[in-house]
Amino acid sequence: MTQITFIEAHGGETSLDVPDGWTLMQAATANGVDGILGECGGSCACATCHCYVDELLMAVLPPPSDGELGMLANVAAQRQPNSRLACQIKASAAMAGARVTLPEMQE
Ligand code: FES
Repeated sequence: MTQITFIEAHGGETSLDVPDGWTLMQAATANGVDGILGECGGSCACATCHCYVDELLMAVLPPPSDGELGMLANVAAQRQPNSRLACQIKASAAMAGARVTLPEMQE
C-alpha cells in the first residue's frame, strides 16, 4: 500500500492507501474521488483521468509513453508540464506521500 493524496479542483483532499500495482485512476474512481472520470477504463484512450503530479512523482515516474503524450494533447483542462494521465501511473512504494491535483474539468 502506498499513500497518495488527491486534491480536487475545489480544494477537497482525499488520502488513499493504494495497493501496489493499482493505477491512480483505479484508486480514485474506486473511492469516489471527484474530478477524475476514467471513461475508457484505463486504456489510455479518453484523457478523462488527467492530473497534475507533484515533484515527488515527477522525480520517480518514467517519461510518458507516446500514447500518453498523444492523449495529453487532448485534455479538456489546461495542460501543464506536470500533466499526466492517472491511468498510466501504477502505485509503488517510491510514491509514498505523493500528492496529485485534479483539474477543474475532464471533458
Ligand atoms: S482512463 Fe482513459 S485515458 Fe486514462
